Amino acid sequence: EKGGYPHFMLKEIYEQPLAIKDTYRGRLLADEGIIKMAGIEDNMKRFLNADRIIIVACGTSWHAGLVAEYIFEDLARIPVEVEYASEFRYRNPVITEKDVVISISQSGETADTLAAIKLAKSKGAFVFGVCNVVGSSIARETDAGAYTHAGPEIGVASTKAFTTQITVLTLIALRLARAKGTMSSSDYRRHLHELELIPEKVAEALKADKHIQAISKLYKDSRNMLYLGRGYNFPVALEGALKLKEISYIHAEGYPAAEMKHGPIALIDENMPVIIIATKKGHYEKVVSNIQEIKARKGKIIGIVTEGDVSVRELADHVIEVPETLENLSPLLTTIPLQLLSYHIAVMLGKNVDQPRNLAKSVTVE
Ligand code: F6R
Repeated sequence: EKGGYPHFMLKEIYEQPLAIKDTYRGRLLADEGIIKMAGIEDNMKRFLNADRIIIVACGTSWHAGLVAEYIFEDLARIPVEVEYASEFRYRNPVITEKDVVISISQSGETADTLAAIKLAKSKGAFVFGVCNVVGSSIARETDAGAYTHAGPEIGVASTKAFTTQITVLTLIALRLARAKGTMSSSDYRRHLHELELIPEKVAEALKADKHIQAISKLYKDSRNMLYLGRGYNFPVALEGALKLKEISYIHAEGYPAAEMKHGPIALIDENMPVIIIATKKGHYEKVVSNIQEIKARKGKIIGIVTEGDVSVRELADHVIEVPETLENLSPLLTTIPLQLLSYHIAVMLGKNVDQPRNLAKSVTVE
């Protein structure tokens, strides 16, 4: 059942090239320059008339929502707010019939997300679901939706659900951008072609596994770790930290790299490993200067870099390469080494990777 892998989590990490392809299959027609998603076409007016999009989710799905916020605003120029479902439902939020709410949930059963959807519907908002489990409560409760086709995710730590959620949300953003005319047709086509190449680039990123395993060995006994990223890779830093916490029980925090100097930099010393996402596109020079600040305080640096990188390699203790892609697709690649790093550390510490303590695969109570 684990297909020869020692854990479901590892199997699911390796399934990502196929899961992403399954998720865009039939929807992404790159050569024709078309994105076909019935749930969007049928409700195009609601999306185009929306004053804003509110994304509600929990945990890893909330991180996918944050990535989507950057993509929707950047490409489709639609204002987006991303809310923890548990906060949204209890704070008397302002919701109108002109709002579109997108709920993201792997299981489709998360109690807080379901309650947030019901609240939004009661105020007349249009609710669109992005779920993995067909026929789940959230899939049934939403007005329309698009499934991720990740296949069953058994490991409690979410991996392929995250990358396929980002895939679906990227397709939606591109479709809306085209409809609104916020992207030039050449830029739009370039995005379609680059998205089509993501599965093979994920497969390429997975090849760093042995190297990541060796790095994991050096840092498995750390008490804390810091994850940093900017722009599109800030949510990836949050997700990397969550992954490490939940399966290895090592305390980790994700931060926007530039927020360092507003507090967390005080934590840096020779015992603090810092995982920093420093891919070529997306504030690269600024991230390099953040790395210099960490190095000056003797922090250990693990850089997630673009293939062939030189500058970060000179400064960092270790680098892990991912293939080059467009800035707004980079989370699909930079997430991969962070998943593997937390997996290997947890295995080396003898933790129950697939079923970490205190956690359940679907959180059906608030
Ligand atoms: C993290 C994790 C949780 C879930 C969260 C939401 O690895 O698995 O944080 O992401 O409980 O679950 P879904 O997406 O099923 O609503």
